[in-house]
Amino acid sequence: MAEIKVIIHGALGKMGQTMLEGLSREDDIKVVGAVDIKAREPVVISSRGAVPLNSDLSFLLNNINSDVLVDFSTAQATIPAARLAASHGINLVIGTTGLGDSDIAEIAYLGEKYNIGAVVAPNFALGAVVMIYLCRIAARYFDWAEVVELHHESKADAPSGTSLATVKAMLEEKGKSFSQPDSLRSPSRGELNGGVNIHSIRLPGIMAEQEVIFGAPGQTLRLRHDTVGRECYLPGVLLAVRKVVGMKGLIFGLDKLLGMET
Ligand SMILES: NC(=O)c1ccc[n+]([C@@H]2O[C@H](COP(=O)([O-])OP(=O)(O)OC[C@H]3O[C@@H](n4cnc5c(N)ncnc54)[C@H](O)[C@@H]3O)[C@@H](O)[C@H]2O)c1
Repeated sequence: MAEIKVIIHGALGKMGQTMLEGLSREDDIKVVGAVDIKAREPVVISSRGAVPLNSDLSFLLNNINSDVLVDFSTAQATIPAARLAASHGINLVIGTTGLGDSDIAEIAYLGEKYNIGAVVAPNFALGAVVMIYLCRIAARYFDWAEVVELHHESKADAPSGTSLATVKAMLEEKGKSFSQPDSLRSPSRGELNGGVNIHSIRLPGIMAEQEVIFGAPGQTLRLRHDTVGRECYLPGVLLAVRKVVGMKGLIFGLDKLLGMET
């Protein structure tokens, strides 16, 4: 089978570097290009050798044959890159967070217009997706819940996309708001979403953690996911890269890609 040729967008960032190393180790995938606004050298070195590096995605698209753009950049950079890659018939795997509903709708439109596949997943970690699935089940039985999400100090958004997606899933399942103490209103109670407070902690020394605490008289149920290394995202991204080349249109979320029933 022919190798799947990948360009990484945001390649010099923390996730871009993890993807460059991880994707380069796979026999059926070849990283053929790397794009980053910070690019100063003509190549970046991966475990499989030198990969052409450029600050201009259109230069690489015009000069190198590729099948998939893997994007871990910034919310502002993703949509222009997606438009450009889609117009070259390149499939999209997007992990950048902070995209709005209109951005997702545009990616779906690009998929249809250019007859390409697109996978957008705000969290490519299997454990986080399973945690959301389990939170949906717990939400049926508990009326009280709070979320504590902890991330490294350079994370751009708060609350995290994963915490918002978790609460959204819990509310969908429950069909009504969770309970809150009526009398207690304080900024230190975090951001309120449908009766669930989300507490965002930003500290060096932490990568990504989330605990969802369900409460009922005399008991709590705690569901927790800890990310201790960025390689946890790799299996999800590999699955997306391999699936997207045979797809048309958008799949949103690793849960859908895994065919998880929710
Ligand atoms: N989906 C997931 O599972 C998942 C996991 C971790 C991080 N993320 C998200 O991935 C994104 C990147 O995270 P990170 O920790 O690697 O951040 P980072 O800041 O380390 O890397 C971002 C990279 O994008 C580059 N960049 C910025 N603007 C650009 C542009 N216009 N063109 C090309 N490159 C550009 C930056 O120079 C930088 O190297 C964030 O949105 C983060 O929240 C998603």
